[in-house]
Amino acid sequence: EKGGYPHFMLKEIFEQPECLTNCMRGRVNVEATNVTLSAVIDYKKQLLSAKRIIIVGCGTSWHAGLIGKQIIESLCRIPVEVEYASEFRYRNPVVTDKDIVVAISQSGETADTLAAVRLAKQCGAFIYGICNVIGASIPRATDTGSYIHVGPEIGVASTKAFTGQVTVLTMLALALAKERGTVDDDTYFSIVRELSVIPQKMQETLELNDRIAMLSRIFTYARNFLYLGRGYNYPVALEGALKLKEISYIHAEGYPAAEMKHGPIALIDSDMPVVVIATRNSMYEKVLSNIQEIKARKGKVIALVTKGDDTISKMVDEVIELPDTQECLEPLVATIPLQLLAYHIAVCKGKNVDQPRNLAKSVTVE
Ligand code: F6R
Repeated sequence: EKGGYPHFMLKEIFEQPECLTNCMRGRVNVEATNVTLSAVIDYKKQLLSAKRIIIVGCGTSWHAGLIGKQIIESLCRIPVEVEYASEFRYRNPVVTDKDIVVAISQSGETADTLAAVRLAKQCGAFIYGICNVIGASIPRATDTGSYIHVGPEIGVASTKAFTGQVTVLTMLALALAKERGTVDDDTYFSIVRELSVIPQKMQETLELNDRIAMLSRIFTYARNFLYLGRGYNYPVALEGALKLKEISYIHAEGYPAAEMKHGPIALIDSDMPVVVIATRNSMYEKVLSNIQEIKARKGKVIALVTKGDDTISKMVDEVIELPDTQECLEPLVATIPLQLLAYHIAVCKGKNVDQPRNLAKSVTVE
C-alpha cells in the first residue's frame, strides 16, 4: 500500500506531480489557455455579486488560505480575509449575504471548520468548500465547491492536500478574475500556462530528495528552527515550520522575513538554523538583506533559491535550487523541499513519521 516507500508521508510527497495533474484535469484545458471550475459556472451570479471573501480553515488548510488570499486579491481585486475557523466561530463575526465563505478542509470533518460553515450559513453567506474527502460533512454543508482530487491522504502530516488546495485556490482566482474582468489577457494566459507545467517543475524539485536527506543529518540535533519567507512564500515558511514541529518535535517558527528585526532576530546565534525562501522574485533584494543580517549573527542559513542564483549561494551555508516559475505559483515548488526536510529530520531522529504523537488525522472534536 505504501508503493515501495518506507512511509505514507514520503509516498504522498512524491505523488504530488500526479495529484496536481489529477486536480487540474478537465479544469485547465489541454491547450493551457483557460481554466474552468464547474462551481464558478453554476454559481456565477452568487460569486460575482459578492463584496468580500472570508476563508476559514485550520492548520495546513489555513496556510493554504493565506496563499489563496494573495492570489485572489491580486487577480480579482476583491478583499479577502483568512481566519482560523476556531476563532471565527466564537467571535460573533460580521458576516452577511454579501460575503462568500470559502471553507478549506482536507478531511471535510474538522469540527471547528464545520461549525464556522454552519455559522456563516446562518448569517446568509454563500459557502464554497475546498475539500478532499468526497461526501464528507463539510462538502455536504456547503452551497458549492471544488474537490482537490488528490486521493486519500494517510500520513497525518498534510502534504499533497496542501498543494492541491493551493492549486484549487489558484484556479478559483483565475476563473473568478476572468468573469470579473479584473485580469489582463497576458497575465491570465501566462499564469494558466505556467500552472499547467507545475507538475513537471515539482518533479524536478523531487529530484532534490537525496541532497535534502544528506543535509538533514547536519540539522538533526538542532533544538530550534526559524523559517522565513515573504509575500507568497510567507505562508510556505509557516507550513515548513509546522511540518517540522509535527513530525520531528523540533521547535520551529515561521515568520514573514521582514518581521525578524522586530523580535526573532534576538534568537539568532551559531546554533540556530534559519530556512529562508529567497527565490528570484519581487522580494529578492529584501530577503537578501535579511540573509546578511542572519549571517552577521552567525546563524546557519539554508536558502531556497532560484536555479542559477550565485549571489545568495555564496553567502549561505546550504543551498536548495528551485526551478523558476511565476511568483504566485512559487509556493507549489518551494513547499516540496520543506516537506522533505521535515521528513528526513524526523526519520533521522527515529520518530514515527506517519503517526506523530498527540496528533490525529481528522480533528472531529474541539
Ligand atoms: C498539518 C495537519 C493539520 C490539518 C488541520 C486541518 O499537517 O495535518 O494541521 O491541516 O487539522 O485539517 P483538515 O484540512 O482536514 O480540516
